Amino acid sequence: MEQEIYLDNAATTPVLPEVVDDMVRSLTQDFGNPSSLHRLGLESERQMKQARGRVAGLIQVPAEDIIFTSGGTESNNLAILGTARARKRYGNHCITTQIEHPSVLNSFKYLEEKGWDITYLPVDKEGVIDIEEFKKTVRDDTVLVSMAHVNNEIGSIQPIREIGLFLKNNYPQILFHTDAVQSFGRIQIRPFEWGIDLLSASGHKVHGPKGIGALYIKKGTALAAQQWGGGQELGIRSGTENLPGIVGFGRAAQWVGQVMSKDEACISRIKLKLTQEIAQVVPEAVFLGPRPEEGAPHILGLSIPGVRGETLLHVLESQGVYVSTGSACSSRNVKTSYVLGAIGVSNQVAEGAIRLSFSYLNTSDELSQVPNILRKSVDQVKRFTRR
Ligand SMILES: Cc1ncc(COP(=O)(O)O)c(C=O)c1O
Repeated sequence: MEQEIYLDNAATTPVLPEVVDDMVRSLTQDFGNPSSLHRLGLESERQMKQARGRVAGLIQVPAEDIIFTSGGTESNNLAILGTARARKRYGNHCITTQIEHPSVLNSFKYLEEKGWDITYLPVDKEGVIDIEEFKKTVRDDTVLVSMAHVNNEIGSIQPIREIGLFLKNNYPQILFHTDAVQSFGRIQIRPFEWGIDLLSASGHKVHGPKGIGALYIKKGTALAAQQWGGGQELGIRSGTENLPGIVGFGRAAQWVGQVMSKDEACISRIKLKLTQEIAQVVPEAVFLGPRPEEGAPHILGLSIPGVRGETLLHVLESQGVYVSTGSACSSRNVKTSYVLGAIGVSNQVAEGAIRLSFSYLNTSDELSQVPNILRKSVDQVKRFTRR
């Protein structure tokens, strides 16, 4: 295999060398417990503070409004279950969408079992909710709205700003949570200006390590802890902090903040160009979800009807190109994706679905090779299945 082209960045991203360096230093030299009172402890605390500032800086919120968690999954669980427990006496209703990540959907399923009333909003064929429909579902007993900014399978972008401002102007008592795991560091998000109370982010989607995440909690937002211990992270997330992970996440957030403003437009252009080239070279490809110019710059869903996505994935892999079928976290146990079902894709198209996802590290040179590699791979699968 000559060259490897990694196009599965919505699943996870390669860790930057400077992140690794900082983490190694944290593991080997600056290993003190941030709660310890001696020099090593104080140094760890200083580094944690720096990392908190870097993560907060990317979304322009005060550093003290960020707590560290073990990742996007925990942040989503904590935001949803923590709100439900803290606000039970104000109501019994939450609103989300049908295409959320399992860490959101399964948190709401759990609440349903406990007697909560959950509205799962449908989406249109581009994977976006109808804002007028949304407004009609808000009730006096609604306590939480939770909606991902960018969908991890098809890259659709929800009108988060519009929703946040609507809630703040009309229902200021309702908390608004957004799962920004796919948008943090990839497209702009401004929780403070957009009326967002809670925001989840994850380190490994922005060239940081796995197993570290953050939850932005707007000052004054009541949230009940989901674990109890020594009172770290504002008492909301007890447990000795994962300092190497935190330091690595901070460094990655700083890097991504520097490249984002100039490279976001660049990734968008690359995606647009790739879509056009694939449409020419592989005309039977069906593009899934939002129009390329409207979805997130780093996610491109497509399907070759009649060619199983998983088979195509492995043939592409043999050519050095790494993609995914649907989302990585669910691709092992879900037959056809509920997200594709929700946007009205037929079973045959859903079975052929693959997801290409990009990062700031992909070069236009490597991406220019993808349409031909895809053509070759599709032909190979078709020859094989015809036999
Ligand atoms: C939209 C979304 N939310 C949450 C998660 C979970 O994040 P983590 O892997 O950090 O638990 C993912 C991971 O793929 C995701 O794409």
